[in-house]
Amino acid sequence: MNIKSVEFIQSAVEKEQYPNDLLPEIVLSGRSNVGKSSIINAVCNQKNLAKTSGTPGKTQLINHFEVMSSNSKGPWDKWYIVDLPGYGFAKVSQSSRRRWEQMIENYLRKRPNLNRVFVLIDSRHEPQKIDLEFIEQMVKWEIPYTLIFTKSDKEKPGAVARNVQSMFDILRERLPFLPQGFVTSAEKKLGVEEVIACIDQYNRLYAEDQQS
Ligand code: GTP
Ligand code: MG
Repeated sequence: MNIKSVEFIQSAVEKEQYPNDLLPEIVLSGRSNVGKSSIINAVCNQKNLAKTSGTPGKTQLINHFEVMSSNSKGPWDKWYIVDLPGYGFAKVSQSSRRRWEQMIENYLRKRPNLNRVFVLIDSRHEPQKIDLEFIEQMVKWEIPYTLIFTKSDKEKPGAVARNVQSMFDILRERLPFLPQGFVTSAEKKLGVEEVIACIDQYNRLYAEDQQS
């Protein structure tokens, strides 16, 4: 898949503000600071399309970017890539945190044109309770999701491999099916081609589904 152009469309909080043309949406979710906005920039091959920051809580709204892409099998394709605020951001009040979580939940559960959610996990850490809970919610809500392990350049390869393995070991015990997963570094552009190929496949499946 070749990405021809990407354009920031708008920021939203509530349903009424989401774009209403219902193009298929690829969504990035995960803890605050896990690297969602950075992966969007790496996938779109742009430096500052989605705003990133060393301080957690940078993305506070639901941001839609419209992508135009092509692949060998078809003509130009239009879809959205969506940057969500992170969950589990500790440095805000309980009520703000709840409001953010509600915003994320409303979006994920009520968006009819959701194609696939990437759940991002920091590859430097052993499986975290908050991520496991989020994944279990995705399964409960029957939302199709795929894992992306981020920041693999920041830890030794052996430790990354162990953390990824532990995550799948725990999920195997808790879930009926294991998700697909990619190990990436937005910084070093590792695993990004694989994520792009995966998005291409999801877009194709979505289009086939619409036709049948
Ligand atoms: P919020 O919007 O606050 O929820 O964060 P986010 O998940 O969008 O994370 P963001 O992309 O803003 O990245 C957070 C910090 O991690 C930034 O300082 C990034 O430069 C850094 N970062 C993201 N991905 C990578 C990576 O692959 N490698 C390294 N070394 N740093 C990364
Ligand atoms: Mg962000």
